[in-house]
Amino acid sequence: MTDTVNNSAVHTASRDGGLRILVGVGGGIAAYKACALIRTFTKAGHDVHVVPTESALRFVGAATFEALSGNPVSTTVFENVDEVQHVRLGQEADLVVIAPATADLMARLAHGRSDDLLTASCLVATCPVVLAPAMHTEMWAHPATRENVETLRRRGTVVLDPAHGRLTGPDSGPGRLPEPEHIASLALAAHDRFGIFRRSLAGRRILITAGGTHEPLDPVRFLGNASSGRQGFALADVAVQRGARVELVAGFTDELDEPSGAHITRIKTARDMQQAVAELAPSSDAVIMSAAVADFRPASAADAKLKKGGDADLATLALTENPDILRGLVEARRTGELPEELLIAGFAAETGDAEHTPLDLARVKLARKGCDLLMCNAVGDGLVFGQDSSSGWLLTPGEQPGAEEVTEVPAASKLVVASHILDALEELFAPE
Ligand code: CTP
Repeated sequence: MTDTVNNSAVHTASRDGGLRILVGVGGGIAAYKACALIRTFTKAGHDVHVVPTESALRFVGAATFEALSGNPVSTTVFENVDEVQHVRLGQEADLVVIAPATADLMARLAHGRSDDLLTASCLVATCPVVLAPAMHTEMWAHPATRENVETLRRRGTVVLDPAHGRLTGPDSGPGRLPEPEHIASLALAAHDRFGIFRRSLAGRRILITAGGTHEPLDPVRFLGNASSGRQGFALADVAVQRGARVELVAGFTDELDEPSGAHITRIKTARDMQQAVAELAPSSDAVIMSAAVADFRPASAADAKLKKGGDADLATLALTENPDILRGLVEARRTGELPEELLIAGFAAETGDAEHTPLDLARVKLARKGCDLLMCNAVGDGLVFGQDSSSGWLLTPGEQPGAEEVTEVPAASKLVVASHILDALEELFAPE
């Protein structure tokens, strides 16, 4: 049973369409990173009110938070009592983001304490509340913290997974605060689509491919494409937050924040990707092929850099077709090499042509690939590739060609688009 506290109450947007965001800061060494988070929000036009805990102020002074947010800062419910700010700040917020959320702060939130302004504000907030924990690995793994996180998530609070990496001191492991821009995008997605991070994929194993492959011509040249990997990373982010165990097989991508909690395998070529997918697919419940796999590779790759005037004919490039990984998965499922319950989803990036719309071509591609779900994006003219947002259609096969079920995915951030794709996938899972 889910005793959800956050609801989809409509909150009034603050100045110029920006949101009123309450940024809570817990008392941990990562408190300094809250400064970058506040800057990210204010630069995007949001009205930020910072509520640190008393101990957060031992790491970063109130003056810094006031200067960055342009709003006064207090920690206790006994300041500005006439304005009833312990209730007002939380009630008026469109979004509450706490970074870093320490083990102690999460314990207090899980128990409904209201002994400072931040916890009191969280008790009255009806908007999405997003916590970005940061602590030592042992504290994150402790049964007390696990239970508190579980309790908060059950109530609808979004508790992000901490990133892996170097912690304060010589140790390293899960517990690092994710990068502030990454926290900001996830938190805004939680505001844009209520319930986007509900724990609906707990126990599921999802394999996602992302980015483009590079097909070498020689040690310094390759055939590649413009895929940024953003949609695949967004899918991994949302799937992790929904509780799935995520394997992400990534080719070449823009410099993106790696989804905390996903296991990442980096590959270079289409054949590397095919091999990684073949190893991971048998232990997955679903595969989402969002990678832009190069269809062809140079027939031969030279060991040394090719030279003008050398032996090789550089004016003509002989190509060999790469394996179609998506079709291979569908075929392996048909022949019983892969479990028949494995769900397989693909992407279609289409420009359309003189006679066909992108959607027409996506219908044909769905039939040709034989997958269970296809996300079609209309691309070209600066649309989709490298952008933070996208739109398109989700297609599932019908009884005969032309009878596919098509659902429009409205323009939104790639995190929100990812949530629509995962919703469609979740509907296809057989009930457990
Ligand atoms: N795909 C794949 N292996 C390939 C090429 C594509 O698995 N060698 C997958 C992509 O990850 C995507 C889907 O197939 O999920 C469609 O990719 P796309 O490039 O749009 O389709 P193609 O089959 O390459 O068809 P075309 O380029 O002719 O439109």
